[in-house]
Amino acid sequence: MNGATRKMKLGAFCGGSYHQAGWRHPDADNAFGQDFAPWVELAHRLEAAKFDMMFIADTASPGDAENPDVFRYSAGGDNFEPMTLLAALSAHTTHLGLAATIATSYRPPYDAAREILSLDRISGGRVGWNIVTGISPDDAAQYADQNFVPQEQRYARGEEFVDVVLKLWDSVQPGAFPRDKEGGAYKDLDRIHLIRHAGEHYRVRGPLKGAPSPQGRPVLIQAGQSEEGRAMASRVAEAIFTAQSTFEQARAFRDDIRARAVAWGRNPDHVKVMPGALVVLGETREEAQARWAELDTRIDLRAAQARLQLALKAYDLSGHDLDAPFPDVPPESVVSRGRHHVEAAKREGLTLRQVLIRSSASNAHFAVIGTVKDVADELAHWFENGACDGFNIMPAVNPTSFEEFIEKVVPELQNRGLFRTEYEGTTLRDNLEAPNAPIPLSKA
Ligand SMILES: Cc1cc2nc3c(=O)[nH]c(=O)nc-3n(C[C@H](O)[C@H](O)[C@H](O)COP(=O)(O)O)c2cc1C
Repeated sequence: MNGATRKMKLGAFCGGSYHQAGWRHPDADNAFGQDFAPWVELAHRLEAAKFDMMFIADTASPGDAENPDVFRYSAGGDNFEPMTLLAALSAHTTHLGLAATIATSYRPPYDAAREILSLDRISGGRVGWNIVTGISPDDAAQYADQNFVPQEQRYARGEEFVDVVLKLWDSVQPGAFPRDKEGGAYKDLDRIHLIRHAGEHYRVRGPLKGAPSPQGRPVLIQAGQSEEGRAMASRVAEAIFTAQSTFEQARAFRDDIRARAVAWGRNPDHVKVMPGALVVLGETREEAQARWAELDTRIDLRAAQARLQLALKAYDLSGHDLDAPFPDVPPESVVSRGRHHVEAAKREGLTLRQVLIRSSASNAHFAVIGTVKDVADELAHWFENGACDGFNIMPAVNPTSFEEFIEKVVPELQNRGLFRTEYEGTTLRDNLEAPNAPIPLSKA
């Protein structure tokens, strides 16, 4: 597609304030955990603004439940279950994509395949599944028969999980249910088949119970930073959520993903890379910076430390002086986004306190702070120079950051011809320009 017509894809990271202290801001509405009405209002706003999708991140368990101080001071834990929430929201929307996370490490793939496909039909083909393996040991603790396994094993299982889901979705083809009243055949057995999957982790017979997707197949999204995450994302993902804090990192990430997709025999344009962007606006740059700095003063360092600790595995931060230089954590102790924080600390000589504040503020995502023009310039720069195909907009303060973005930045992007003014189609796949091309299986 040529540069003149290529449009940004926009997702909205929904569910709460992304800045760790955002929920304590006077403007924050913290009722999203227990009330449905604010969700409907937000979905209407996002749809009116022509967002590609709303995305609901999820872990099965509230985090840090066995650490009372951290548990007390961390936002979250009162969230709706995403699939039921999206099913309800689908009845209030017509074009907005509806995406949520289901992790691959604990629940069986058959259940995931069936729930996602069912929601895809209910919504008329607007569903995206965010595939993660799940970084939190709290999740494993909710499933009595499961242990928290190391990352490589989680991904090995995850790769097979996705294979099973793809096979199940494929097991019921369009036309599978002719429901021929005259002839008496309800099903066409040329279009519905057993899958007989027998792998290392799963044995699933198939076929799936359900009718085929209105968009060919629900859209596959992946969010993971590691080597294993990239390997999976480049094989299966049609959209990738990623944390990239600088233009150079983002461009290198996208280049890498596109090269890997080509190696899988895929068209790299079918993989939309959508880094997170936390946008903080001001009438002037100074005002925007002051709003950002004010949020930082509300960060709870205990909760921040617990979250960072998750990405440092056995390396124990407790007892480390907040104002001493960040410790020299060996690379083999660092997982996922922790790598970003450890490298930044070393590069810039940060203290533990500074790392905690930074990681809580944007958690390695792109923080775009400035006037409407500054923000539009930055987003355009990333988009036009190969760093992304769009953004996952994260609200520093929920939902006011979305309201400001929709009111001020979206029209600016539209005026510049960078974002749609009408939906192109009715399915998420249509709008995302992600054709229903074959996805290679990890194992034949
Ligand atoms: C925008 C974005 C959204 C994410 N959403 C989730 C989520 O909903 N649930 C989850 O367990 N992990 C989510 N992750 C992924 C984790 O942060 C983490 O990267 C992953 O579970 C571990 O894989 P990795 O080591 O390959 O990064 C998300 C990541 C990004 C960038």
